Amino acid sequence: MCGIVAYIGPKQAYPILIKGLYRLEYRGYDSAGVALADGVLKLYKTHGKVADLDRMVRQHDVASTTGIAHTRWATHGEPNDVNAHPHYSQSGKLALIHNGIIENYSALKEELANRGYVFVSDTDTEVLVHLIEDIQQNEHTSLEEAVRIALNQVIGAYAIVVISEDHPDQLIAAKKGSPLVIGVGNKEYFVASDPSPIVEYTKDVVYLEDEEMAIIPRRGSLVVKTIRNQEKTPYVHHLEMQLTSIEKGGFPHFMLKEIYEQPKSIKDSMRGRLHAAKGVISLGGITDYEQRLMNCKRIIIVACGTSWHAGLVGEYLFEDLARVPVEVEYASEFRYRNPVISEQDIVIAISQSGETADTLAAVEMARSKGATIIGICNVVGSSIARATHAGSYTHAGPEIGVASTKAFTAQVTILSLMALMIAEKKGSISKSRYHQLLGEMELIPQKVEKALEANKQILAISEQFTNVRNFLYLGRGFNFPVALEGALKLKEISYIHAEGYPAAEMKHGPIALIDEDMPVVVIATINGNYDKVVSNIQEVKARKGVIIAVVTEGDRVVRKLADHVIEIPETDEIFVPLVATIPLQLLSYHIAVLRGCNVDQPRNLAKSVTVE
Ligand code: AGP
Repeated sequence: MCGIVAYIGPKQAYPILIKGLYRLEYRGYDSAGVALADGVLKLYKTHGKVADLDRMVRQHDVASTTGIAHTRWATHGEPNDVNAHPHYSQSGKLALIHNGIIENYSALKEELANRGYVFVSDTDTEVLVHLIEDIQQNEHTSLEEAVRIALNQVIGAYAIVVISEDHPDQLIAAKKGSPLVIGVGNKEYFVASDPSPIVEYTKDVVYLEDEEMAIIPRRGSLVVKTIRNQEKTPYVHHLEMQLTSIEKGGFPHFMLKEIYEQPKSIKDSMRGRLHAAKGVISLGGITDYEQRLMNCKRIIIVACGTSWHAGLVGEYLFEDLARVPVEVEYASEFRYRNPVISEQDIVIAISQSGETADTLAAVEMARSKGATIIGICNVVGSSIARATHAGSYTHAGPEIGVASTKAFTAQVTILSLMALMIAEKKGSISKSRYHQLLGEMELIPQKVEKALEANKQILAISEQFTNVRNFLYLGRGFNFPVALEGALKLKEISYIHAEGYPAAEMKHGPIALIDEDMPVVVIATINGNYDKVVSNIQEVKARKGVIIAVVTEGDRVVRKLADHVIEIPETDEIFVPLVATIPLQLLSYHIAVLRGCNVDQPRNLAKSVTVE
């Protein structure tokens, strides 16, 4: 959602803060602001991008060695200058940045307004900074104690950092529900929503747990305690993250870089886990839970967005290979539906960020009902990863583009490994098929590499579809989730309306939409449903629809029918999603770029959705 960065130490804070905001901009980009404490508290903020803030701030005095900064994704109040963070307290002596939602803000606001506090913004955040100041003044407490008392009155989610004019040698940070990490440098500290603004200065970090706060001094040691006033020993993790993994590396956009990283990211997801020659799959993170997976009566997969689409591929994989019934649930629906869950159920939670609020809540709910929870997350140490009993990290590396690409293929890779491992242990597939699939899986990275070679051709196709208003995506079997994912990718970055459907469902309604202005993307690879998909293509052609077909290399039948054909290398049906997704990602990317859209930061979206 929003991005938080803060610094205290001997260096000038502003250059660190602004660079940090650029790195965090993928989390939110409708407004940005910075507060610096240097004798007086200086606060600058504006609607728009981080670059707009930078342009504005550079005209002012930014000298200071303590500061906080924020890039916003609006929840309460439209994205304008006033609603941007940081927010001042009434006296102008405190400033606060916040990620999350204060759910009881209106009750607190009313109480504070009755006591004479004047609110200038529409945000829930402003309530918190007034509340802290109110406690500080009325109870004559320290800033740290006022923050602690205030947080005990707050219902909701927060990651906050507070800076004070009177105490420029201290920052106070706290978190519940939204992520916050503290970088421990040489006589300096950094605070951020994720490590990306920190890694270039230090790889030693402390992750705050929920309801913990940190008192961060200019000199001396970091103090961590709970908001119930229980002191904690900060545990310092050493990050493995490389700076190059969060830079564009010569690509015009993070999304394109991440699309091209997939041969490597898929390989990284398999590394040390798939040993085709030995016929072994070992997923260290779930070893202790293998028996439960083998004996479970049902698997429930919970996720949102692209991760939900990966979950749908997982359903096909687990049912086909391991013969376990699977239900794939939107986490947001599942958490509120009073679902039937028992101790025999395995819940697999899939999340790139590991911070998605709905998925986290679904995990907590299923856990409270006794289910075993397995996580498939990309971000190491994330909230969902920590809330599960066991899991496998995807190891795709940081995904910065808001549109998920390499995370999807990495998630499908892990699901494939899990399903194959359980199938082998249960004996639900023959030994020869198991070995054949392991051998084939090892070849996927090079097949993805080959699929990327169609980039130029896809760019040329994209040029013909930049002014289209609607798209339909069709696929059957393993290719149905691919169709859904292709449609999501196009709509989120190009703002063209797109729908994904199981190909055979077209005749039950969507066929009414087809005419010469309706491009239909069909994933028509050779598999058990191929002839039926060919019939669906005929149905579209009979109504003058325009077909863009993703086909298996060497296909002759669809080639004769389709207006545009993109070939992908042949692979087993169960692995086709890993390869067929690539041209669809490229198609969305090029159409969006040609339409002049900001593909890395599409409007209204944020990378990790830490609010409901
Ligand atoms: C993907 O392109 C989207 N931006 C979005 O649907 C995303 O997949 C969803 O919000 C879930 O995020 P997560 O994987 O971090 O939980």
